[in-house]
Amino acid sequence: MAAISALVAMLKAGDHVICSRDVYAGTVRLFEQIVSGYNIQIEYVDTSDLKAVAAAMKPNTKLIHIETPSNPLMVLTDIAGVAKIAHAGGAEVSVDNTFLSPALQSPLALGADIVMHSTTKYLNGHSDGLGGALIGSKPEHKERFLLVQKAAGGVMSPFECFLVLRGIKTLPLRIRQHEENGRAVAEYLSTHPKVSKLAYPGLKSHPQYDLAVKQQKGFGSMMSFELKSREEAGRFLAAIKIFLNAESLGGVESLASHSATTTHGSVSQEFRDSMGINEGRIRLSIGIEDKEDLIADLEQALKAV
Ligand SMILES: Cc1ncc(COP(=O)(O)O)c(C=O)c1O
Repeated sequence: MAAISALVAMLKAGDHVICSRDVYAGTVRLFEQIVSGYNIQIEYVDTSDLKAVAAAMKPNTKLIHIETPSNPLMVLTDIAGVAKIAHAGGAEVSVDNTFLSPALQSPLALGADIVMHSTTKYLNGHSDGLGGALIGSKPEHKERFLLVQKAAGGVMSPFECFLVLRGIKTLPLRIRQHEENGRAVAEYLSTHPKVSKLAYPGLKSHPQYDLAVKQQKGFGSMMSFELKSREEAGRFLAAIKIFLNAESLGGVESLASHSATTTHGSVSQEFRDSMGINEGRIRLSIGIEDKEDLIADLEQALKAV
């Protein structure tokens, strides 16, 4: 969140920002409870629809902030398409690349201006450090971000930096296993009768599969699905044994979480409804354990539903 805060510190009163509607709710919390108080107008748009993005542009639009794939519905935004629209209107594009990591998606090569990562997730990879990173494409980005770090104080400790640097050394290896397991789990869930609305961009049934193939180097290991109700979700989460019922993502261990009360607990029911997150939605971050063990765990937990 310090990285996203440094990003929005580039803005000024009177600026207009377009943000993907389906984003990590902490981003919405920052925008709604802090940034909007600075007379910066934030507009949430379905950025998977390029026509909607173009229609939302205003003369004072300075930034389009997108998350792709999005959290938790795995909706994709065409980065190159949004960059074209933004640049034609004099705005910049920032991409929250946390869900794929630099191993699987290169937004700058697709025309984005700034990439943001929560290093807490895949870059660290072991769920033992908190941090964020901003990667700009212009000298003025570096100047501004360094100033914000120094002036506002959102800096990582040397030990956290060490953990992220150590994590990055195994990023490609971990990602390979995350991907293999992610695909296996998604294929298993896609045929389960109690599971609906499975969102994983690596399945051909995902409505944006072609875009995933075009702009990503892989599909990652994040996915989400629906059970029928909050009660069913509760039973599932109480029954899982290898998966931990926890909110983070991108570590070597598999996690499952109830979206409406964890990652998206800080936004209103109305906002969740507008995003399409219902009370039975479960998000999975697939780790690097033995995939047969993971599938067996899901099987027994779904039996408890
Ligand atoms: C997509 C995304 N961006 C940003 C964040 C914020 O990361 P942090 O908890 O490291 O501040 C999260 C956290 O879950 C996230 O999922």
